[in-house]
Amino acid sequence: MLNFDYTNLIQIYNKDPKNSVCQAEIHLFSKNFKTYKKSIQSKNLGFLDLPKNQFELQKIVDFAKENRSKYEDIVILGIGGSMLGPQVLLDVFDQKILDSGLKIHCLDNIDPDLIFHVTQKINLTKTLFLVQTKSGTTPETLAQFFYFLDLCKKQNLEIQSHFVFVTDPVVGYLRKFAIENKIISFEIPANVGGRFSVLSPVGLVIGILINLDINNLMDGAQNILQSYFYEENPEVLNFSTIQYILAQKNKNINVLMPYSSRLKTLSSWFVQLLSESIGKQKKDQSSVGITPLPSLGATDQHSQLQLFKEGPNDKLIIFIEVQKQERKLPIPEILEPEFDYLSQKSFNELLKAEFLGTRQSLTESLKPNLTLTIDKVDEFNLGQLFMFFQLSIAFLGEMFEINAFDQPGVERSKVLTKEFLAR
Ligand code: PA5
Repeated sequence: MLNFDYTNLIQIYNKDPKNSVCQAEIHLFSKNFKTYKKSIQSKNLGFLDLPKNQFELQKIVDFAKENRSKYEDIVILGIGGSMLGPQVLLDVFDQKILDSGLKIHCLDNIDPDLIFHVTQKINLTKTLFLVQTKSGTTPETLAQFFYFLDLCKKQNLEIQSHFVFVTDPVVGYLRKFAIENKIISFEIPANVGGRFSVLSPVGLVIGILINLDINNLMDGAQNILQSYFYEENPEVLNFSTIQYILAQKNKNINVLMPYSSRLKTLSSWFVQLLSESIGKQKKDQSSVGITPLPSLGATDQHSQLQLFKEGPNDKLIIFIEVQKQERKLPIPEILEPEFDYLSQKSFNELLKAEFLGTRQSLTESLKPNLTLTIDKVDEFNLGQLFMFFQLSIAFLGEMFEINAFDQPGVERSKVLTKEFLAR
């Protein structure tokens, strides 16, 4: 089970209350658990049902079994939540991609250089385009879709064999196109928003194509829901409370710093989740938000740590500690006395020591930090992390009294984009 440890915050509070939180402050919010829960449940949030209710799962498994061997390349077209979830899965389980023999390309942008580059790399006749968009209307994704549709048509390829859609069950252009052209498509439940969709077919189609253990992923997510939502253990709520209280104390930046390269993209996923959900203008025109900052241990010790340690005390550092890497990699005997401390240790021990050293150093400087610990990086633990963060957003939305599930601030730029194109 994922472990959540905020003892360093209490330690810092005892020396410097204005820069940290104490148990009594946290308790003020945990008393509201039932009220928050009731409000969250009244919102009909589909992501809470996904771990238990995978009505598309068998259909996806059958599709993968029947079709996997037909393809060399899979190109995922999508943006935002329709791409970030799959990207996390692909980065965490890159060994499974290798084992599957597939080459997977994520087109998460409309940069012509990127599109050209991917087009150059694929064997079109053996490519599956996985077009993922909840709304079915996102211009970036549809522009990519029309581009590759045109390429396939020009080569007289049967489009039904080269396109699969993941989209809303009813609305949107892509759904209409799927029906009219008999394209295989999987449904994102109507009440599951983009950044909460990783455990829907958005993550599952590619996950199953590379042979992830989906049951374990779902079990991990359900495990968090069961304990920290249905059984009302307050750990996730406490995490949100800490984020909220620290934001009130001018610590408006949340750094997510996993000590695992495999979890690097999880930080990008977290960035979208926190930014789009909590960055909001309220009815009285006041603004709220927490700025997420992605970081990677140990890499960013040589990039950001100087700022974290000696710069303004405006951040909460959220460490993710992985107790056991998949591989143990020894450092050989080093005969240089200068490097005695490294000799015959392992990279695993070095990474762990760097994590402990960094955490202690920040605590000594009274810089708020907490740690989420998982025993290893696997489907179960990733499912836990996904749900831990998604659930924390729901609680944060309650505290900030905002709708964490819309993104009206993105609309204006879409309108202006169309205006610029029309000029
Ligand atoms: O969280 C969200 O809803 C958004 O960020 C979407 O994921 C993003 O805009 C892409 O939307 P769609 O999946 O409709 O193409």
